[in-house]
Amino acid sequence: MQQELARLAALVDAAVDHDAESMGRAVLAALREATATPVWLPLERRRVNHENYARHLLHGDPRGRFSILSIVWDHGQQSPVHGHHCWCAVGVYLGTLTETRYREEVAGVPLFAGTKARPAGSLSFDAAGAGIHRIANESGGVAISLHVYGVGASEISTRVNRILAHAA
Ligand SMILES: [Fe+2]
Repeated sequence: MQQELARLAALVDAAVDHDAESMGRAVLAALREATATPVWLPLERRRVNHENYARHLLHGDPRGRFSILSIVWDHGQQSPVHGHHCWCAVGVYLGTLTETRYREEVAGVPLFAGTKARPAGSLSFDAAGAGIHRIANESGGVAISLHVYGVGASEISTRVNRILAHAA
């Protein structure tokens, strides 16, 4: 894991000082490589929490510019509907997730815009403030995704997701 994670962190580190558009491309290229490399996450970072999807911090940038996490989804688990305070990139690492997208809120209610299967290797990037969605594991097995967030490790609980209470 050390080698693969160090490479991912180094590629993201090099990407985050670019302008927004090339930064997004470079972060996704790093995630493409990381999700294509066969199982390098150690067992403790692939562990399911049966109560809720499990977030494991893999790397926090010492300068507080980004964090890398694995999220482990047991079958049937899902995120709340949320937007993002910071930019975030997602690569599906194992299994298949289902992403439901929503349009901008109208009177505080996000509007359903579509659902897409996200098999291993799927990549997505949302700029800060953009992209309202819910991620769910509707498959029969465990799924794992790798996430890069544009905040330091101390802020991942408070400065990543903007939870939306109601969705149409
Ligand atoms: Fe998200």
